[in-house]
Amino acid sequence: MALKRVMVLTGGGDCPGLNAVIRGIVKRASQEPDWEVVGCIESFNGVLREPTEIVVLDGKAVRGIQTQGGTILGTTNKGGPFAWPMKQPDGTWTTVDRSDEMIRKLSYLGVDAVINIGGDGSQRISLGLSKKGLNIVGVPKTIDNDLSMTDYTFGFQTAVQICTEAIDKLVTTAASHNRVFIMEVMGRDAGWIALHSAIAGGADVCLIPEIPYDINAVKAKIEQRYNKRHGFCIIVVAEGAKPKGGDVTGENTGEVGYQHIKLGGVGVQLAAELRAAGVEHDIRYTILGHLQRGGTPIAFDRVLASEFGVRAMEFVLEGRFGQMVAYNHPNIVGIPLEEAVREQNLVNLDNSLVHTAKGLGISFGE
Ligand code: F6P
Repeated sequence: MALKRVMVLTGGGDCPGLNAVIRGIVKRASQEPDWEVVGCIESFNGVLREPTEIVVLDGKAVRGIQTQGGTILGTTNKGGPFAWPMKQPDGTWTTVDRSDEMIRKLSYLGVDAVINIGGDGSQRISLGLSKKGLNIVGVPKTIDNDLSMTDYTFGFQTAVQICTEAIDKLVTTAASHNRVFIMEVMGRDAGWIALHSAIAGGADVCLIPEIPYDINAVKAKIEQRYNKRHGFCIIVVAEGAKPKGGDVTGENTGEVGYQHIKLGGVGVQLAAELRAAGVEHDIRYTILGHLQRGGTPIAFDRVLASEFGVRAMEFVLEGRFGQMVAYNHPNIVGIPLEEAVREQNLVNLDNSLVHTAKGLGISFGE
């Protein structure tokens, strides 16, 4: 009996739980005598590069990896089959579409189906490849939780836990020194990490991309937290937050194939704006950065990732291609890729969590 082959890959920024998905896929596939799993190194790069970098994933390769952060397959958030970086004779870089060539190569390699674990950018690639006839299933990941058709992406709750623990630590030092502490967290377009951790950690101000802030409103909340010089204030700010009428803080790296502005530094910017607005309390800032993406996934993310892995493999067995597995509590459902990437999951101002945060006295700097 000829073995059927499913190829798994992880794309975009890494995220706690990726290994648990890979393990779920391999464990479920191992119950099918006619299927084998291979892993493609660094997203689709493993197929696109010469020599090809594809590894066999058996039970031994995935043993116990649900506890490990990162991805055993490696990942990249640059380039891809539709925008492969190429150096031109004059030394400048451009991108080329290598998707048709890649699909031919996959067929030559005997790959019958692909499971692409990644965020919105990766699932757009899944959609493009699906339209070209590739048998592909998507699995939603991102710490930002910005995919709209799943209740949660895995990795998000771990990031929230890391941020919450960081706020807990900052509270004790802020209170001891009567300081204003600004903590910058990830959240490019969506403020979910900031919102959840601000509520869980008991922050006073939460600034998110969806609600541009007024520096005087932030200042007013700070002053409310002090009795003359005694008091402290915790501000959680998402990296994608911006002042009213202003822009995000970051740099355009100009790297070919990297789609984003590299965000970072809004916390520093905010500290300067607060001083300029007349806040005289001692201000400090902390940028959590990639600490939020690294390390061990919490139990919730291991469970969700395992569910996604098992179901994604079952979608392959059932021939349910062109779909993304999604969490629709309490079920794992299939969403057509087209729908899965149509809109982002942003914090809606009518959201119950915004209501709760306001009820707790958290200011959004409106
Ligand atoms: O999309 C997830 C994310 O963590 C964003 O919140 C952040 O802006 C981005 O990835 C950072 O990516 P990089 O690893 O390229 O710095």
